[in-house]
Amino acid sequence: MINGEKLMIVGGHNLRGTIQVGGSKNATLPILAASILNGSKSTIHGVPRLLDVAVMQDVLSYLGAKVNWFGNTVEVDTESIHSVEVPEELMRRMRASNLVLGSLLSRFGRVKISYPGGCQIGSRPMNLHLKGLQSLGATVHEKFGFITVETKEGLTGGVVHLDQPSVGATENIMMAAVLASGVTVIRNAAKEPEIVDLQNFLNSMGARVKGAGIDTIKIEGVRIEDLRPVVHTVIPDRIEAGTHMVATAVTGGEVTITNVIPEHVEPLLAKLREAGVKVGVGDDFVQVQGTGRVKAVDLKTMPYPGFPTDMQPQMMALLSLAEGTSIVAETIFENRFKHAGELRRMGADIKVEGQIAIIKGVPKLSGAHLEASDLRAGAALVLAALAAENGTVIENVSHIDRGYERLDLKYNELGARIIRVHG
Ligand code: UD1
Repeated sequence: MINGEKLMIVGGHNLRGTIQVGGSKNATLPILAASILNGSKSTIHGVPRLLDVAVMQDVLSYLGAKVNWFGNTVEVDTESIHSVEVPEELMRRMRASNLVLGSLLSRFGRVKISYPGGCQIGSRPMNLHLKGLQSLGATVHEKFGFITVETKEGLTGGVVHLDQPSVGATENIMMAAVLASGVTVIRNAAKEPEIVDLQNFLNSMGARVKGAGIDTIKIEGVRIEDLRPVVHTVIPDRIEAGTHMVATAVTGGEVTITNVIPEHVEPLLAKLREAGVKVGVGDDFVQVQGTGRVKAVDLKTMPYPGFPTDMQPQMMALLSLAEGTSIVAETIFENRFKHAGELRRMGADIKVEGQIAIIKGVPKLSGAHLEASDLRAGAALVLAALAAENGTVIENVSHIDRGYERLDLKYNELGARIIRVHG
């Protein structure tokens, strides 16, 4: 989704002060999808007001749910759902619309979505989601770009061994298993904190899920009558927190980042320390102090608790200015180096060879006219622009708005100079 807005950033101002992190986008999306299961009310606190969340709201409303906002609280009533088909337009707006697959199938026995197709960071197929649902007895038909998944007599618990610990597949299978008969076991499950949050939400509504956060998740099926209305607060967004940490380091500033679960950002904290950034950790906050040029570090993206792929672009912006040569290996997505080309336009020295980027640090970057190709690549460009000499223009800001609630305003409060230009 592209709108005409752009950011104009005057670099060279370091960030100082306190910034509060919002609720996790990647926890909110599956939780909203899971609200379909109980056929009643879910009250969800701490929901970030983001474009991606708005798309999931549109999906739920299209299906017939009632969705109301009160500040950062969303109330969803899914009793009135009357459709099990997500139209192509909503699938196109956000790949994560596919997260309604498991819960619609579990409650209604049928779901039809259009194929999410390719995306900017890689092909992102659905095979693991579909294989998992088939293991629970569903049949899958793929025709003319549409996927229909159905079950005649309800789903039956089974063992699903994921070839890869896919976050979305783990979530869809967990949701599908909630109303299946018998026990489902997911092996090689994703271990991300957002999976644990989904488990907590499901259990609060009466589901029986355990094991989230380790690689084997067990779901004992319940009846829809056993599910009840639920009140839940989503966890803080670890990627938003991480982005602010790197923004502070790259500008040589000093910022306290609040509403953080430090354990969730540990992989990034370790890398920042290795790079020479000063970080202090409290119960629910992190303090970051930039100390001039960072040292080069190597990193490899891995499923949690490894270094998150969603922080790779922002780290590349920081390492562009490091002393020495860093090697970044991207192992999760095959096409996640688009920001490298844009950073080169600012004077960065980055060579990409397949899934590896070799970054020779330069002493300074200078402003350029850039384009955000996806959400985290867009964030990386903002960070590079904050540190650069001269002004930078970043096009396609809607990519950034998908996952950050007015990043421009938040950073201006910390001393940045960012103007959002409409039209
Ligand atoms: C989620 C996150 C995204 C993050 C990613 C990896 C949400 C809404 N999005 O995306 O921000 O970057 O996890 O941490 O939570 N794969 C298959 N077949 C499948 C499914 C996935 O081959 O059926 C592959 C993908 O192409 C990719 C890898 O598995 O290479 C990981 O993808 P996955 O964990 O599924 O990512 P998402 O859930 O889409």
